[in-house]
Amino acid sequence: MSTQSKAKTSKESLIIMTELVLPNDTNVFGNLMGGRLMYWMDIAAALAAGKHCNAPVVTASVDNISFENPIKLGNVVHIEAKVSRAFNTSMEVHMRVWGEDLTQQYKYKSNEAYYTFVALDPNRRPRVVPELITETEEEKRLYDGALRRRQLRLILGGKMKPEEAGELKAFFIKG
Ligand SMILES: CC(C)(COP(=O)(O)OP(=O)(O)OC[C@H]1O[C@@H](n2cnc3c(N)ncnc32)[C@H](O)[C@@H]1OP(=O)(O)O)[C@@H](O)C(=O)NCCC(=O)NCCS
Repeated sequence: MSTQSKAKTSKESLIIMTELVLPNDTNVFGNLMGGRLMYWMDIAAALAAGKHCNAPVVTASVDNISFENPIKLGNVVHIEAKVSRAFNTSMEVHMRVWGEDLTQQYKYKSNEAYYTFVALDPNRRPRVVPELITETEEEKRLYDGALRRRQLRLILGGKMKPEEAGELKAFFIKG
């Protein structure tokens, strides 16, 4: 692993992706297919992670996603992606996704999601990433919550024992 470089702000990793829902992107109901949206989200999140660490990244995991509203054919998709926390070699990316009807002039939420990326060195081994600096209240809230989300995904991925997940346990068992 290479040495860690200078810490960067969450804002520096910001990516905003805009797409138009075309017929080939839709399901039989004329709404954007979930798989297509997750593909776009993967690219937006990978760009945010890559911007933070300036190295090639791979998707390590995708947290559960609930699609709150369908995005319709002809509508616009906006994906806003930002690194919410950097760990050692991995980064959590937070995304907000919304649809927009330009003719009717309204915006609606699709989902919020977290993807995790790992930075790789030229030998394709995980490499250390820069620390993340938070500035806004929201960035701090996302940063704090990232520790328990990380523990949950590592447990589900078979990489951590539930008894080692102190932060997660404290979240569910108060007092
Ligand atoms: C992700 C990957 C690089 C992890 O490699 P590994 O040899 O297991 O490395 P480690 O166990 O040392 O973990 C490296 C980092 O990945 C994180 N990680 C591993 N599995 C994870 C998971 N399921 N969810 C979130 N993070 C995970 C670890 O927490 C660690 O992060 P840290 O250094 O910040 O603590 C490796 O599993 C891989 O290449 N997977 C395939 C990635 C890919 O091809 N993605 C596209 C999908 S087709």
